[in-house]
Amino acid sequence: MNLNALIDALPKAELHLHIEGTLEPEMMLSLAKRNKIDLPYANVKEVQAAYEFNNLQDFLDVYYQGMSVLIEERDFYDLTWAYLEKVHGDRVRHVEIFFDPQAHMERGIAFETVLGGITSALETAHKEMGISSKLIMCFLRHLPEEAAFEALDCACKHKDHIFGVGLDSSEAGNPPEKFSRVFAEARAQGFVPVAHAGEEGPAAYVKTALDDLQVQRVDHGNRAFEDPALIARMVRDQTPLTMCPLSNLRLRGIERLDQHPIKKALNAGLLATINSDDPSYFGGYVNDNYKEVAKAVGLDAADIVQLAKNSFAASFMPDADKQQGLDAVAKCLDQVKK
Ligand code: HPA
Ligand code: ZN
Repeated sequence: MNLNALIDALPKAELHLHIEGTLEPEMMLSLAKRNKIDLPYANVKEVQAAYEFNNLQDFLDVYYQGMSVLIEERDFYDLTWAYLEKVHGDRVRHVEIFFDPQAHMERGIAFETVLGGITSALETAHKEMGISSKLIMCFLRHLPEEAAFEALDCACKHKDHIFGVGLDSSEAGNPPEKFSRVFAEARAQGFVPVAHAGEEGPAAYVKTALDDLQVQRVDHGNRAFEDPALIARMVRDQTPLTMCPLSNLRLRGIERLDQHPIKKALNAGLLATINSDDPSYFGGYVNDNYKEVAKAVGLDAADIVQLAKNSFAASFMPDADKQQGLDAVAKCLDQVKK
């Protein structure tokens, strides 16, 4: 079996996915029409032409504009459902999804509208496709601490649907410690903390995400490699890393995909995983990320299997469900050997 067929066959979890980043140009245009929102694009080609990014901020500007077409609960449902159907075909059986409520509340959309649409699609996907999920609410780090506290207040009313809190948006100049107090309160309220760190920001931000925010997983973490002692610590603690190769390429964290540190991460013994981040904007869903980075850095079948196993091990699934995911990987390998 060739490597791409193995990638397609393996059961896996996706742990770093912004639901607003799954908005495909076709859906963006149809929702703009349905909701009478003006966009600066007349067709799919024009939308795609805007997806030329030099850095994270270039992308974020287009991402926040794109999501302005999401107004009604059914828009959030349709968005989430389309993603889940798509990755069902990639053999994804568990997803941990980020959402950015502050970006919607700023536009006058109620927290409950956003959450209601996403969670009802997740529930239907569990029933109809067997995909399990956890939802992680991100604080927008370019906004003040006070705004994050307001989002946390909303989340506290919906603990049955929100599992964790994360930190995303413009990293440079917005270190994790800006949100130490918000994360302390979120942890006290029972939310599991994660954060984007070391995507564009320095290794020191990964360190303060661990020390100050007490995150249980680091999203991206690429620049942690600038600090060998930090890598040794993350290997020792088996701190999961959710890496996103095509995102790093498109946002120019790396110039070429063969410079991606995923192989280095596996060789070092880190609990690294592969994910898609914002698949509509970065040119590929989770299996595309596996395939392209495997080809570029020379991952072999053993590496791919390790990454699929890591995706369950690094998840927030209960232990029994993690084991079921790992058993499904083993079963798949038995079948492909026959
Ligand atoms: N980085 C930071 N914030 C984000 C991203 C990302 O890749 N996608 C959506 N918000
Ligand atoms: Zn991300």
